[in-house]
Amino acid sequence: MRVDILTLFPEMFSGYLSSSIMDKARTLQLLDVHLQDIRDYAEGKHRITDEPPYGGGGGMILKPEPIFAAVESLIGESKMNQPGVGSSGVDDEVSDDKNERQSGIPVILLTPQGRRFSQDVAWELSRNERMILICGRYEGVDERVREHLATDELSIGDYVMTGGELAAMVVVDAVTRLIPGVLGAEGAAESDSYAGGLLEGPHYSRPQSFRGWTVPEVLTSGHAAEIQRWRRQQALRRTWRRRPDLLLKADLSEDDKYYLAVLAEERIDELSDD
Ligand code: ADE
Repeated sequence: MRVDILTLFPEMFSGYLSSSIMDKARTLQLLDVHLQDIRDYAEGKHRITDEPPYGGGGGMILKPEPIFAAVESLIGESKMNQPGVGSSGVDDEVSDDKNERQSGIPVILLTPQGRRFSQDVAWELSRNERMILICGRYEGVDERVREHLATDELSIGDYVMTGGELAAMVVVDAVTRLIPGVLGAEGAAESDSYAGGLLEGPHYSRPQSFRGWTVPEVLTSGHAAEIQRWRRQQALRRTWRRRPDLLLKADLSEDDKYYLAVLAEERIDELSDD
């Protein structure tokens, strides 16, 4: 997958992208990241990328021209949208013309106002051969970028960071590990938390006893079917305790439902002991 990241701070990415699985994915040519310095697309002697907001107020707003120029040169189109086409910039809904952009390459603005990034969104994005991520900064990005250039807006959570760079790294990481061939063990991404809708249960490795805390016996028993059953039940137990909301959408067998009924009874017993 080719990922273009538009940012004013390309240097922020180098350590992360040169380490661990991201480095491996790049070496295997499964991930090809191009850091695009927004300033390189700004015109004039001073290559200005931000301006104070019209109407006053604090902070600086990222100008539209360098961001449009960057995306258009990457996509190879001279004009993404004609002036006057599309919404007037007064509504908060995703504007109609977003769906009309023809390149098929997702152009994603990272913003706390975006739709919430999740494992499902990561799977969705992992099916693309390319994506373009725009990292916002300062007080925000000129609204015309949101309305007439971005095809999607993503937020990684309900908090405000100083810019979209960390969010872009989160998206690139979560998407990259889903690209076939990136993770070592076949199917590793399928079995982890959120795949199949459940949180993963506990994991243990050597030593068998650490400070007197021992590994559950079943894991050292050598009974593959028992271990699988135990793992499934632990995943159900953990999801039930920590994220019961996930159970509503999870893929559950009859055995799973029976085990959840046992957990529910345990809980009722606990409550009546209080
Ligand atoms: N930029 C600043 N905060 C952000 C968030 N929570 N998600 C995505 N981009 C952001």
